[in-house]
Amino acid sequence: MKALLVARVVVPAVLTAVAGAVAVGSLVLGAEAPVVGLAAAFALVAGGVTVAAGVHRLAPAEPDVETREQKGPRLRRRQLLLGAGAGTAAAVAVAVAFPASRRVSDATDRLRTTHWFDGARVVDADGELVRADEVADGELLTVYPEHAVGSVDSQAVLVREGEDRFSPDAERMDWTPAGIAVYSKLCTHMACPLGLYQQQSGTLLCPCHQAVFDLLDSGRALQGPARRALPQLPIRIDDDGYLIARGDFSDAVGTGFWGRP
Ligand code: FES
Repeated sequence: MKALLVARVVVPAVLTAVAGAVAVGSLVLGAEAPVVGLAAAFALVAGGVTVAAGVHRLAPAEPDVETREQKGPRLRRRQLLLGAGAGTAAAVAVAVAFPASRRVSDATDRLRTTHWFDGARVVDADGELVRADEVADGELLTVYPEHAVGSVDSQAVLVREGEDRFSPDAERMDWTPAGIAVYSKLCTHMACPLGLYQQQSGTLLCPCHQAVFDLLDSGRALQGPARRALPQLPIRIDDDGYLIARGDFSDAVGTGFWGRP
């Protein structure tokens, strides 16, 4: 009888606890989804077997009167069942929470980052590389990272003005080589594409709700409903005169609500 109890209840309960611990440990250590999923699934099956076997043991076919002497072992069995149930519940929680958290995290990462990276070459809307000396003073160009022409979140505006017209933040002094600055093309209010450049003031106007951004001063929002500055792209000029990104935008593009506390 005792051997039967061990085989039907104790072994599955121990397996449940071990598999549950593996699932939780894998989650904490950042293991791949299939590993966590397999461990959680195994814990679920073992937990189910434990509970079924335990219920069978605790529900005798005949009416049963529990004596004081029986209380100890019966309580231990109940505790065992409760433990197995808790392990199963934890495994279910892990199985549900892990893929969900991964998806939320992946989606957030995708919203925070674009196709720009350190070393990405700047191209125009036709995919042609942009040379610094081919951009005229006062010109505004729509540009993309090479191999991502048309990307909505990576689209950017490039402007060239006299170097002495810029008054960037201290840490951005070298982000505008040869008087060329690049900003996200998406308005920080509701992500309308920007394109109305007023050269005299060096400002960019949003056609949707008339937000105004100062391209000569780190993309600062001057007026209108937008509160955030336009994210700026740090750039450099390579030895052949082409424009190269030095990283991604300085901040999340568009409405950027995912980047707010
Ligand atoms: S989307 Fe630009 S001001 Fe509203």
